[in-house]
Amino acid sequence: MEKLVIEGGIPLQGDVKVSGAKNAALPLMAATLLCAGKHILRNVPDLRDTRTLARLLENLGAVVSRDGDVLTIDTTVLHHGEASYELVKTMRASVLVLGPLVARLGKTRVSLPGGCAIGERPVNFHIDGLRELGAVCAIKEGYIEAEAKKLYGNTIYFDIPSVTATENLLMAASLAKGTTVLKNAAKEPEIGNLVDMLNGMGAKISGRGTDVLTVEGVDSLHPADCSIIPDRIEAGTYLLAIAATGGAGRVTHCCPGDLPSLVEKLRHAGLEIIEEADALAVSWKDGTRNLSRVDIKTAPFPGYPTDLQAQFMALMTLCSGQSAVHETIFENRFMHVAELRRMGAKITVDGRLAIVSGLGMNGLKGAPVMATDLRASSSLVIAGLAASGRTDISRIYHLERGYEDLVGKLTGLGARVWKEQE
Ligand code: EPZ
Repeated sequence: MEKLVIEGGIPLQGDVKVSGAKNAALPLMAATLLCAGKHILRNVPDLRDTRTLARLLENLGAVVSRDGDVLTIDTTVLHHGEASYELVKTMRASVLVLGPLVARLGKTRVSLPGGCAIGERPVNFHIDGLRELGAVCAIKEGYIEAEAKKLYGNTIYFDIPSVTATENLLMAASLAKGTTVLKNAAKEPEIGNLVDMLNGMGAKISGRGTDVLTVEGVDSLHPADCSIIPDRIEAGTYLLAIAATGGAGRVTHCCPGDLPSLVEKLRHAGLEIIEEADALAVSWKDGTRNLSRVDIKTAPFPGYPTDLQAQFMALMTLCSGQSAVHETIFENRFMHVAELRRMGAKITVDGRLAIVSGLGMNGLKGAPVMATDLRASSSLVIAGLAASGRTDISRIYHLERGYEDLVGKLTGLGARVWKEQE
């Protein structure tokens, strides 16, 4: 296996270009199953997760080809409707093929994704929602078996605004007979990207950007030609990395409006954030490199994103004072804490609340650490960039799931970072 080596303590400077959003690419790739034909998806990041989903689509019978950041997905012929455990266990977002396959084929067998490092990650909202659209769903030998000659519109209320459950049911409802209303639906920008793609395919979805989505079912759709939105989590990760190293720079090709909470939190921490049309610039107000403590509490969009919690905690290990990090979405999303402690961080955890006692800038020391999940890994990268000395991060396959060309992009900002065999 490979590890990432970072010689820290160098202030990052310059521009870094954001890639397409992983969490938009995955549902939009799944949506190509809704209708036969050649779909074009643009600005698709080349990641472990998008490659995994491409393999799953090919296993179903699709033909997937990539030309730069343009993915062509031909779903004219689907041989079967089964998503095997071997494929689904490596990426739980594979469950996103459930809704499209029921709608397209009337029958599907998708492996239950199982838990993951950050939590149990149940999919009951996905299954209950399909049942409310008239599908017969059963769990047999670790698989979700769903069948429906036709799906029928209904009103579905989510107890929690689940992102992928909203996406799965939006896709299924697009081809249902009648009207579906999704209430307490997720409002993340990636949902808006999916709504735009589906409407571009001939679906009739209204309520974009709100927590009530209304879908007038149609008999058929036509192939898509659409673009993936910029990755707001990647953009936030680089903003935090530049800040943590005491540097200054711009994150380009992003949507500043997709990070409202992070921008406010960075300003409260004492950073200068300039919002441009498609970029965010971060610098220091008056030349000092003194970070103020800031509390965060994760919440569904537009609240503070859980996918940037670990990265913000890394920044707060460098502030002057104590900050509270409250993780409300997942029950086990503090796996980065033990690794940050190995670098000298002072953090106490009580359930879903972590208290970070800042060391001041340059307070961290490089050390060998281990990646445990995608966003925890990026927190360790930020800490390693800020720390004095060398940090070796093992199991970097976690990172490669969600950050395209990480070494190239960091090197472009002046970081000393490379990969080595473990
Ligand atoms: C999506 O996961 C993202 N993944 C996650 O990003 C992100 O952390 C999460 O949304 C929250 O923003 C993709 O979009 C591929 P949820 P998802 O359903 O949809 C509970 C990353 O790092 N829940 O919104 O699986 C669940 O346990 C990944 O890129 C149920 O109880 O998250 C959680 O507590 C990590 N039953 C809460 O809802 C269900 O059927 C929110 O989860 C579904 C979810």
